[in-house]
Amino acid sequence: MDNLGETADGAQQNERDAGTRAAPWWRGAVVYQVYLRSFADGDGDGVGDIAGLRARLPYLRDLGADAIWLNPWYPSPMVDGGYDVSDYRDIAPVFGTLAAADALIGEAHEQGLRVLIDLVPNHTSDRHPWFQAALAAGPGSPERERYWFRRGRGEAGELPPNNWESAFGGPAWTRVTEPDGRPGEWYLHLYAPEQPDLNWGNGEVRAEFESILRFWFDRGIDGIRIDVAHGLDKDPALPDLVSGPGGALVPAGEEHPYRDRPGVLEIYRSWRKVADAYPGDRVFVAEAWVDGPQRVARYVGPGCLHTAFNFPFLTCPWSPRGFREVIGESLAALHAVGAPATWVLSNHDCVRHVSRYGRARARMDGPHFHPESPFDLQLGTRRARAAALLMLALPGGAYLYQGEELGLWEVEDLPEEVLQDPRWEWSGHTDRGRDGCRVPLPWSGSAPPFGFGPDGSRPWLPQPPEWRDYTAEAQARDPGSMLELYRAALRMRRSHPALGDGTLRWLGSPADVLVFARDPGFCCAVNFSAGPVPLPAHEQVLLASGPLDGDRLPGDTAAWLRI
Ligand code: GLC
Repeated sequence: MDNLGETADGAQQNERDAGTRAAPWWRGAVVYQVYLRSFADGDGDGVGDIAGLRARLPYLRDLGADAIWLNPWYPSPMVDGGYDVSDYRDIAPVFGTLAAADALIGEAHEQGLRVLIDLVPNHTSDRHPWFQAALAAGPGSPERERYWFRRGRGEAGELPPNNWESAFGGPAWTRVTEPDGRPGEWYLHLYAPEQPDLNWGNGEVRAEFESILRFWFDRGIDGIRIDVAHGLDKDPALPDLVSGPGGALVPAGEEHPYRDRPGVLEIYRSWRKVADAYPGDRVFVAEAWVDGPQRVARYVGPGCLHTAFNFPFLTCPWSPRGFREVIGESLAALHAVGAPATWVLSNHDCVRHVSRYGRARARMDGPHFHPESPFDLQLGTRRARAAALLMLALPGGAYLYQGEELGLWEVEDLPEEVLQDPRWEWSGHTDRGRDGCRVPLPWSGSAPPFGFGPDGSRPWLPQPPEWRDYTAEAQARDPGSMLELYRAALRMRRSHPALGDGTLRWLGSPADVLVFARDPGFCCAVNFSAGPVPLPAHEQVLLASGPLDGDRLPGDTAAWLRI
């Protein structure tokens, strides 16, 4: 935020040389992700909403967040939790009204919180008027040109146009019934069939989304998270994928036909111009699932997007070598283009990090988590506390996912009949999907709904009874709680001139320990081993993720030091 004391390189230095303005707020911001459906329920229907969020803004201010990012809040059939948008210029009735959204933006600003929303440009809902018009208009029409309609293969077009698969399972193509009642063309959907992919080669699609950007910037929002940012550009030849190692489908040539193609960057360069025309440093953050920090860096920098999520950091297992590599590579790649890093440990698509780290053995494959040993809550919690101090000490911004400040874990035993993630159905009931990280937050009290909604209301997913000890109320003022650790770290981050945007210096350390310094006078040490190690030379311990052992840093523990 106002941490301008760094000797930094890249864009920040240039700005300071110009001597005219402070670094923009987003370079070091802590953004709290509000998964609206599960944050707070104001009207008692079991689903979180804008009214619930408005009532809890003081909590977010007191936590020390700089901004909030809200998952999609638009009218939607909610096949994919709102990522199936039927109207990009309104609010879903279950969440509130446009007037409530305006009030929220105003109130958040009064509390010192910026507001980011989520834009879904890769696909619409099948209920979107454009898709309905495309179905009605028939083959060859301009309405179908906004999506990917194709004749099928096989003699009567009875086979999908290619072998692409949906991210949720099953083919990425669905055949439509034409207006004359006969089976006809197929349309592409890289996610659920209710999420048809837009054709970004179409001028109307481009113009429409730039107009949607303006609609929300005009309402005062400070930034936009771009859903599936890596996916908008497709190879119009729609080539088949081929079978790669382990049977996975991979591109035949160098370029993937629908992931991370250079054409997406041109779209974002145009969006950047839209954002830059507004006062007050509006920001984009890309959800780009691409291969490694070098590829992430292509999305950001002058003239392109401002920031992108650091998924290589999120997917890194609990290992000093892994973290050292991903942190080093991220900072190098992003600084080279003048962009800040943004660190993230959890979100609404991934298994919560308490549950990921709380295992002796586990691996990740993109966003998919594969546990290889049983869950140990104490281990996961200890590591999650250390990870929080690691993340919040790194140069750049950070994203917190609601509930991580409470130390919540993945709810792995939701009854099958309540599961709502389309992945559950489309995987043929082999993948339970992402509902386990979306369980409504526990705020207070000793029984569900734990203050999520009014007493007697039933949250849309059941909360574990053990969360009685994890409510925000139970944790407030308990110096040993996760909530108080986050509050203390965020308070210090705001006031310490070394933290936020800037650079770091690695210091020598035993294997299994990461130690880095930030100027002026700050050091973070994280011990990944099981046993204690001596603390690096320091003047004072500022904060620790767990009890210290005299002058020693116990295993799976992190400390912030004054040096
Ligand atoms: C993004 C969202 C995810 C959604 C998908 C399709 O990955 O984060 O929740 O299912 O896009 O829109």
